[in-house]
Amino acid sequence: MKLHLGEKLALPVDFVTAACVVYGGRGSGKTTFGTVVAEELYRAGQRFCAIDLKGDYWGFKSSADGKSEGLPVLIFGGDHADLPLEENAGEFLGGVVAELEQPCVLDLEHLSKGKQIRFLGSFLTALYHKNRAPLMLIMDEAHRSGARDLPRRERGHRAPGAQARARGDHRRAARCWSQQRGLGVV
Ligand SMILES: Nc1ncnc2c1ncn2[C@@H]1O[C@H](COP(=O)(O)OP(=O)(O)OP(=O)(O)O)[C@@H](O)[C@H]1O
Ligand SMILES: [Mg+2]
Repeated sequence: MKLHLGEKLALPVDFVTAACVVYGGRGSGKTTFGTVVAEELYRAGQRFCAIDLKGDYWGFKSSADGKSEGLPVLIFGGDHADLPLEENAGEFLGGVVAELEQPCVLDLEHLSKGKQIRFLGSFLTALYHKNRAPLMLIMDEAHRSGARDLPRRERGHRAPGAQARARGDHRRAARCWSQQRGLGVV
């Protein structure tokens, strides 16, 4: 089975544990690529977790034309939440997502940038320690998750995005980052 990402682009299912960075200018199709990756992974019986900083991914729930059901994703947080996402629950949700068989979306749009970064630090650390099965983490707008965006006094820990990218694949949580500019460590 292959993941059909475009007319001329099919990748093996083990892409689920690959690291992938998507660069592109505004409107070049980064988010669309992320959603196609997610849909194809789901079709192939693989898990994904979309970390959504902008409220772009809740639309998974319905088809592209909005007339029928889409993917059975569990949405944490945001206006279309199935379950709430509390700013201090990063560690807890990292453990939940590690065990979850269903695909999910973490909608962080309602959190301030600083809160998003702190949430992701705890979430990714817990996920890294607890995850044991293949899981694709899809993170759109990844350039927003760097600790350099925090006020200087709050830059005590390494950016969560950089932490997760630097860690080994043996935890089986792969990353598909999408961003408009580089973060330096990919
Ligand atoms: N492969 C494609 N073929 C045709 N149209 C596409 C394709 N990919 C994306 N589009 C269209 O291009 C527009 C922008 O796509 P998208 O939102 O994915 O870009 P983006 O890079 O995420 O933008 P932004 O930088 O604003 O986040 C959308 O209207 C989308 O439907
Ligand atoms: Mg986008």
